[in-house]
Amino acid sequence: MMFGKILLFLVLVTTASIGAEMAKNTYIIHMDKTKIVAKLFHEVDSMQTYQEVIDSINEMSLQKVDGDQQQETMPAELLYAYETAISGFSAKLSTKQLQTLEKVDGFLSATPDQMLQLHTTNSQQFLGLQIGKGLLSASNLASDVIIGIVDTGIWPEHASFQDKGMPAVPSRWKGVCEEGTKFSKSNCNKKLIGARYFFKGYEVEHGRINETKEFLSARDQNGHGTHTASIAAGSLVANASFSGLAPGMARGTSYTSRIAVYKVCWRLNCSTSDILAGIDKAVQDGVDVLSMSLGLGPLPFHSDILAIGSFGAIKSGVFVSSSTGNSGPFSSTLSNSAPWIMSAAASYTDRTFPAVIKLGNGKIVEGISLNSGNALTKPVPVYYPLSRFCLDGSLNETEVKGKIVVCRTSNVSAYIQSENVRKAKGVGMILVNFISDGDDLYVQPHILPTARVGYTAGKYVTRYASTAKKPTASIIFKGMVYGRTAPVIARFSSRGPSSIEPDLIKPDVTAPGVNILAAWPPIVGPSERQGDTRSVMFNIMSGTSMSCPLVSGLAALLKSVHRDWSPAAIRSALMTTAYTLNNKKSPISDVDSSNSAGPFAYGSGHVDPERAVDPGLIYDIATEDYLKYLCSLNYTSAEIALFTRGNFTSPKFAAFGARDLNYPSFAINFRGGVQNGSLEYKRTVTNVGIPTSSYAVQVEVPQWSVSDCEA
Ligand SMILES: *[C@@H]1O[C@H](CO)[C@@H](O)[C@H](O)[C@H]1NC(C)=O
Ligand SMILES: *[C@@H]1O[C@H](CO)[C@@H](O)[C@H](O)[C@H]1NC(C)=O
Ligand SMILES: *[C@@H]1O[C@H](CO)[C@@H](O)[C@H](O)[C@H]1NC(C)=O
Ligand SMILES: *[C@@H]1O[C@H](CO)[C@@H](O)[C@H](O)[C@H]1NC(C)=O
Ligand SMILES: *[C@@H]1O[C@H](CO)[C@@H](O)[C@H](O)[C@H]1NC(C)=O
Ligand SMILES: *[C@@H]1O[C@H](CO)[C@@H](O)[C@H](O)[C@H]1NC(C)=O
Ligand SMILES: *[C@@H]1O[C@H](CO)[C@@H](O)[C@H](O)[C@H]1NC(C)=O
Ligand SMILES: *[C@@H]1O[C@H](CO)[C@@H](O)[C@H](O)[C@H]1NC(C)=O
Repeated sequence: MMFGKILLFLVLVTTASIGAEMAKNTYIIHMDKTKIVAKLFHEVDSMQTYQEVIDSINEMSLQKVDGDQQQETMPAELLYAYETAISGFSAKLSTKQLQTLEKVDGFLSATPDQMLQLHTTNSQQFLGLQIGKGLLSASNLASDVIIGIVDTGIWPEHASFQDKGMPAVPSRWKGVCEEGTKFSKSNCNKKLIGARYFFKGYEVEHGRINETKEFLSARDQNGHGTHTASIAAGSLVANASFSGLAPGMARGTSYTSRIAVYKVCWRLNCSTSDILAGIDKAVQDGVDVLSMSLGLGPLPFHSDILAIGSFGAIKSGVFVSSSTGNSGPFSSTLSNSAPWIMSAAASYTDRTFPAVIKLGNGKIVEGISLNSGNALTKPVPVYYPLSRFCLDGSLNETEVKGKIVVCRTSNVSAYIQSENVRKAKGVGMILVNFISDGDDLYVQPHILPTARVGYTAGKYVTRYASTAKKPTASIIFKGMVYGRTAPVIARFSSRGPSSIEPDLIKPDVTAPGVNILAAWPPIVGPSERQGDTRSVMFNIMSGTSMSCPLVSGLAALLKSVHRDWSPAAIRSALMTTAYTLNNKKSPISDVDSSNSAGPFAYGSGHVDPERAVDPGLIYDIATEDYLKYLCSLNYTSAEIALFTRGNFTSPKFAAFGARDLNYPSFAINFRGGVQNGSLEYKRTVTNVGIPTSSYAVQVEVPQWSVSDCEA
């Protein structure tokens, strides 16, 4: 029934003498749907249309072509049909089948599937949000906002996802609760209103998922997804803590919002065809906000399938928040720099977990620790092994027993280092940052008393430990302390300027992303390492993966108050009200230096939700503007078509460029030297505040370092 019809879409393929490439790969195929649909006698759904395309390709490869001995042994296989994220589908194809497909009417382009990993490194009080007041007052929380989390799934029974007191699921919701391994329909409730999982692309790459080893369902086996979902919208949980530390009320940023999870990441990594399927379904299901703590690294927008998929989401009015990555402090390392995506850097809050190390020579060094209690208050011998990193088999029990061991941070998990010290009968560990970790101090859940010190302070420790005759130390753990200078930008937070679009400032803002306490699956050890059999309900994690869902939660809060604001309007409100001075009234700095961190570390500054709810003016951007902007990037028509789906003829927009986008920040790229002259920047603001208001313009000239100027 289908073959006859579909052949209409094919330009006649006569020769097919392509090499013996029989291996199959997954490709994401972009299609101009108008060209296909026009040739159909009646409208069919995309899945059926694309299945017909695939069937006809299989049909053709079965027809033996003269002189071609090579025959396809495996048919092409359709994985997903995409509706909203992109126009097209993904399929498992041989190169030969791909070449046939390229001749189908409506074919735009094909991108091979890629694998990627999550943005992890290894709070709300600070945000000024108070329950019962402002944004968190009952009337503002009444409106229903749905946040879609594209991640590793969720632990549905967790207290953070209970639905006590929540009203019925909004009738506009079209999502489902997919069943799978240890996941039934009853695992969803009025808080967790949807759960889906996508694994077809992953299986093409890694083979069948073994259900005895991995939940083939939306259930989280990693921890990352449970953590990010609860940061965005976890319910109120009284008395939450990590082993007694950081105790208090746990609550998601927008704790009355609904959560829908889209599990796209599996044991080894995540495939772009699955992520795209997650975005696609989330938009169709009706999420208002999409939270994606993952990225492909700096890629031109037309090769960045997440940028393309996010554009599809924005077109449908969905706010997209992504992480910038953890590749700092080096310039131009950030991911997700497309102007339609809101991207957040990660910074410290004023909360810390100090540990005071007193060396035998009287010197005091400050570090941090997740330990509590006073386990090492009496001086104990200190040992600094020659091998420095405390790797497997490098510690000698005779030398380590009863001592505090000094270890350098390494690529190996700190959990394994502390395990090695414990095996060799050490009593404690001082973990000294390797030079590449600078002075970043995020806590990790060690298994024996441990203090972590930065690279700078660590120099004293290692010098003392390797030169003193009988080095000793004591460590006092101070628990949790508020009031440190904050925000401070984390060293690991990826930096701008974007290597893809240096004419826009990215990241957009910074938000808390260091030492964040949030929900955790009880079956995953807090260090995420096999062999870590501890079971915790809450865990402390750091990364732009944590600041991203926090911004998603803030977007949901703003959306609940301003139902009619576009994604660009919400971002504008968060950016124009962000602050750049810390709690000591000095410019926000970088953890490694007291100099101002600057816009390429924090964008417009640190988010300030209570001010964002009433920004006065907003800089709005329509989908059409993004398309004009894309045209200004001089992409080929095939590249533009990925965003326009073949339906947009790129006109010559007189001098439209990044600076003409109605972005809430202004960037001037001098490309090699400051010149005398003037540049004109136009913006259109919309008054969302008091109807009759007047605004005064104030310009602060940026400070230039000598290297930025041609003297
Ligand atoms: C995905 O996982 C495989 C298997 O561990 C690994 O070889 C590959 O490098 C990973 N890819 C990425 C991008 O992390
Ligand atoms: C799945 O994993 C289990 C446990 O490791 C193993 O015994 C079994 O052989 C695996 N099954 C397949 C099909 O690989
Ligand atoms: C917190 O839980 C502990 C036991 O788990 C209990 O002793 C304590 O009273 C609780 N505190 C609050 C404030 O509920
Ligand atoms: C461990 O250290 C002791 C004392 O320094 C030494 O005698 C022994 O040979 C070492 N053992 C190993 C396996 O290196
Ligand atoms: C970590 O791994 C990278 C790449 O393999 C290597 O260059 C670097 O030296 C390693 N760092 C440490 C501290 O082992
Ligand atoms: C696009 O091409 C035009 C004309 O060659 C040029 O002026 C402009 O700078 C280019 N834009 C970009 C973003 O490369
Ligand atoms: C194509 O463009 C027209 C006019 O701008 C619009 O109405 C239509 O929905 C678009 N079609 C697709 C498939 O995007
Ligand atoms: C730039 O303009 C200012 C004022 O018009 C003038 O004083 C200065 O010499 C000019 N600098 C250069 C490099 O042309």
